[in-house]
Amino acid sequence: MASVPCDIPVIRAALLGWYDAHARSLPWRSGPTDRGLKDPYRIWLSEVMLQQTTVPHATPYFLSFLQRWPTVGALAAAPDAEVMAAWAGLGYYARARNLLACARAVSADHDGVFPDTEAALLALPGVGAYTAAAVAAIAFDRPANVVDGNVERVMARLYAVETPLPAAKPELKRLAAALIADDRPGDWPQALMDLGATVCRPRTPLCAVCPLTDHCAAFAGGAPERYPLKTARADRPRRHGTVFVLFDDRGRVALVPRPDKGLLGGMLGLPTSDWQPVPAEAVPPAAADWGAAGTITHVFTHFALTLEVRTATGSGDFVWTAPEQALADLPTVFRKALGLAVGGAITSRRSSAALRS
Ligand code: ADE
Repeated sequence: MASVPCDIPVIRAALLGWYDAHARSLPWRSGPTDRGLKDPYRIWLSEVMLQQTTVPHATPYFLSFLQRWPTVGALAAAPDAEVMAAWAGLGYYARARNLLACARAVSADHDGVFPDTEAALLALPGVGAYTAAAVAAIAFDRPANVVDGNVERVMARLYAVETPLPAAKPELKRLAAALIADDRPGDWPQALMDLGATVCRPRTPLCAVCPLTDHCAAFAGGAPERYPLKTARADRPRRHGTVFVLFDDRGRVALVPRPDKGLLGGMLGLPTSDWQPVPAEAVPPAAADWGAAGTITHVFTHFALTLEVRTATGSGDFVWTAPEQALADLPTVFRKALGLAVGGAITSRRSSAALRS
């Protein structure tokens, strides 16, 4: 097990100095260049979005949420369906439900003011250990141990941790905790995250410009990219199903609300069969002359999905929606299917925006 080093003040000074010069300018940020702009609502919103989503992917969503719901009170008052639709494409929809639960608790129980300690933040519904630590540190300058994938990678390299992930998590968290101090508690985790994202990168670390090479055991060992070690993961299981793209005679597409519980719960989606381990014949949602448009694949956290896409023209009791609107609002898996049906593969929210213009 890696031991905690004694040169902590030197490591901290080196990284914070680097951050002063190289902090990324991000729209939720209260970094060395924009002190005083610490809005807990922005910081909380960004941290929820950034869990398992990259900064470039999360940024347009963050900006559009902020424009639409500029305060936690505005978000708390928003209808569930609007927030879920605005979240579509970010994935992990349980997080959007947690987001709303938290906004409503802050609004109803805390007069719209976020509590300012890690423990009180953790007591809010839908707020986990990571978010509580991140908001306490970044918004309220509380020394808190903020550990995401970037921080884990930096620790694994700095101390050449030979235990593979995920078993190494407690050790990496302990190593990160040892580096925390009362000085600049909000900048510290952001400096670590920026280093991880821009220098101590997963595959190609840029050690030549890293402020920590003098202290880095993995650099000294000559193969920093070997860390963090990972236990080989079993392949994701695959599921199969059919998705039905039904147009009416005005060119609108049929959507159905998904059940509240389960994957993409509470969102609008295209009608689909159940998703099963083996392909099976599916019952269409309406009698029509169904044709095959091809297949799409989508990878969820716990399984990969292959969907046969069928299209037809018909009628029925559905939520009829303009395809452009559906392409903007639907979860990614359905945007892929609709994109195939209307004749263009849809891979990102930006491409659907381009389609609209
Ligand atoms: N990733 C998650 N939170 C972040 C933050 N505050 N700054 C940079 N990257 C992040």
